[in-house]
Amino acid sequence: MKIASVVGARPNFVKMAPIHDAILASKNDHVIINTGQHYDYELSDIFFKDFQLPKADIDLGVGSGSSCFQIGEILKRLDIALADIKIDIVLVYGDTNSTLAGAISANKCGLKLGHVEAGLRSFDVTMPEENNRILTDHLANFLFAPTKNAVRILNGEKVRGQIFYTGDVSVEIVAKAKLIARNSNILHRLGLKRGTYLLLTMHRAANTDSKEDLLELLRAVRAVDDMEVVFPIHPRTKKAFREYGLLDQLSTCKNVHLISSVGYIDLIALLYNATKVVTDSGGIQKEAYLLKIPCITIRDNTEWVETLTGGWNRLTGVDSRRIINAIRANKPPVKYKATAFGKGDTSHLISNILSSIT
Ligand code: UD1
Repeated sequence: MKIASVVGARPNFVKMAPIHDAILASKNDHVIINTGQHYDYELSDIFFKDFQLPKADIDLGVGSGSSCFQIGEILKRLDIALADIKIDIVLVYGDTNSTLAGAISANKCGLKLGHVEAGLRSFDVTMPEENNRILTDHLANFLFAPTKNAVRILNGEKVRGQIFYTGDVSVEIVAKAKLIARNSNILHRLGLKRGTYLLLTMHRAANTDSKEDLLELLRAVRAVDDMEVVFPIHPRTKKAFREYGLLDQLSTCKNVHLISSVGYIDLIALLYNATKVVTDSGGIQKEAYLLKIPCITIRDNTEWVETLTGGWNRLTGVDSRRIINAIRANKPPVKYKATAFGKGDTSHLISNILSSIT
């Protein structure tokens, strides 16, 4: 059986990693197609290195641009690439533009489509990711849902494909990464002590495109100047700070370690040893929960509602007052559902895929 994965952005590579290992272990072929949505070393190659993934079989080299440009170019280039190989099923992951483009392409080429991380909803249709998820789920033949809530949502939307409750691939990824992260020297390099700093990430278009939101974030980090803040900054966010004339203000904050985006292992090392994390990333909210690190989500909603249980994840929007209160708040009580994201068995997910297409 030949299984193709269409990936292109940082979170796609992370989710594909355990699937790749499970496909190889099942003695099937895996064709990796990288759209090239992300191309900088710290957003792309480093993930292949961290997860010991082979070089992509096909590189589409699409790069940056508007959503229409990215999706359109991927469709054009995939059409040519897929014509040359016989594929039994195309897998797409999560909610990026590469996910949606891979889904449309599989559908138009008459190929079976599987969506890993199906059924997530933030119910915020202003997020490009929300529309990517909905469209992909309605095109998919096989929907691999990470949580029971995702299964409920898919049933409610009456998707046409077959739904599998698989648990979330992050459970396995985080468990492995936590062990490997012991060898990371990132804390040492930054001169940080365990449990004494905040981790901060922000890259969502809705946040980076607003000068007011960037100013709110600056106000928040300045107000907690008794704490060190580690901020691995996405290129999009850095560009936005620069364009609004705020980069100097950020980089001269004495308590802020402003560093380039980091790979997965260093990110898990930084997260696992932080007091709290402030983020607008979907993946980090869940990784924080799995590592029992309190999370402050600078959005008004989340697709990972399970993380809200027991106050492990608090939604603050990009509002400095609410962010500061959440940073200063006590640790949540221990109420915690260890199995909220399943048991971490990706080989089970792969056997679902294989049995569904044979
Ligand atoms: C994309 C995903 C988002 C995911 C994020 C992870 C979509 C709609 N969004 O957002 O869901 O959480 O990846 O990082 O697919 N850029 C670089 N170097 C790169 C790639 C991008 O500098 O290697 C800059 C470019 O200025 C580009 C901008 O970042 O225009 C945005 O990149 P893009 O891929 O459109 O979206 P992300 O913000 O990365």
